[in-house]
Amino acid sequence: MNNKDQIKLAEAAYKLKGSPMFKVLARANELERQGKKIIHFEIGDTDFAPPGHIIEAAVSALRSGETHYVNSLGILPLREAICEATEKELGFKPTIGQVVIAPAKAFIYFLTRCLVNPGEEVIVPDPGFASYYSVFDFIGAKWANIPLLEKNEFRMNPADVRKSITDKTRLIIINSPNNPTGMVMTKEEIMAIGEIAKEKGVYLLTDETYGKMTYDYPHYSPSVIDQCRERTIILNSFSKVYAMAGFRLGWAIMPEAIAEKIGLMIQTVFSAVPPFIQYAGIAALIGDQSQIKAMLAEYKKRRDAIVAGLNSLPGVSCVIPQGAFYAFPNITGTGLTSEEFAEFALENAGLTVLSGTNFGQYGQGYARFSYATSIDNINKAVERLNEALKNK
Ligand SMILES: Cc1ncc(COP(=O)(O)O)c(C=O)c1O
Repeated sequence: MNNKDQIKLAEAAYKLKGSPMFKVLARANELERQGKKIIHFEIGDTDFAPPGHIIEAAVSALRSGETHYVNSLGILPLREAICEATEKELGFKPTIGQVVIAPAKAFIYFLTRCLVNPGEEVIVPDPGFASYYSVFDFIGAKWANIPLLEKNEFRMNPADVRKSITDKTRLIIINSPNNPTGMVMTKEEIMAIGEIAKEKGVYLLTDETYGKMTYDYPHYSPSVIDQCRERTIILNSFSKVYAMAGFRLGWAIMPEAIAEKIGLMIQTVFSAVPPFIQYAGIAALIGDQSQIKAMLAEYKKRRDAIVAGLNSLPGVSCVIPQGAFYAFPNITGTGLTSEEFAEFALENAGLTVLSGTNFGQYGQGYARFSYATSIDNINKAVERLNEALKNK
């Protein structure tokens, strides 16, 4: 039974959207097989390798027998290292029972599943990370999308969040620095949303995957309000900051009662993150940070190069992203829709970019460029796009 029409699936399966970048990547790989030279801007992964001491920690843990089942919540030394790091960075020390280890994306699903009933509502940034929307559809949650507007430098407006809360709202998601816009919220905005969550008694998921990747302003976390003891949940990942996307390692800090349930989800689905991977996480957190700082300095140069390049193109304008490694130019002046622009860039300039609409309806008129690639590639891409747009 290989025929798609004959295979009957559960309703939820038909609602799964997944991650759009994987589709674009597959198309680009097909063109590469035909001999085309593609420059990649679609994937939120870096060209840097993780620092050597992180690799060494994983290898030596493998060699010393860290190859068995472990505690589903995560190994104690990693959770302790996260408690210490949180105290240093945010000024409060969570209990071990508040800290859970899993891939960041898995947390988005597990947390939404455990906090939101079908038909209940989540407040979410638009444009926002595509996995949020895929998860909501899959579990039957409804959402109120808060527009991130270019005229507000894509920052989420707390007044919009307040207006969108209903008696069905269970969860607010914020994501600063934001994927796909690179926007960083101010301390005032972050704290205002934290206070709204407190006043209304709703959970607040603060997705801090790019928290250490800001260029001009510091990152703030609303978790200081309740120290993740009542309603705030910090989501974090080793993927971007430490260039460890393939390790599939992240963590979350949350009220202990929720952590217990997430532990049961992990037991049910994959038992635990492999222990040798978790040892790499300890090395990342407590080891030398100089390479991390150097990577960040390089991303800043790349950001400046891509923003200048995009702003030089006919019909394209780009506000300066303050964090992460994404640029989100306005492409309306090209006369193309976002979907057409992404297609045009691939077919006519050999570049993979994502349509802004992959991240929600307010992404129309924009494209996402992931600039975690060399300045050389960035300059080449701008040249190719310039040629293609001029000859359109
Ligand atoms: C906003 C946001 N949250 C979470 C994740 C998931 O991170 P990971 O790949 O570590 O699961 C990503 C990855 O792109 C992201 O952009």
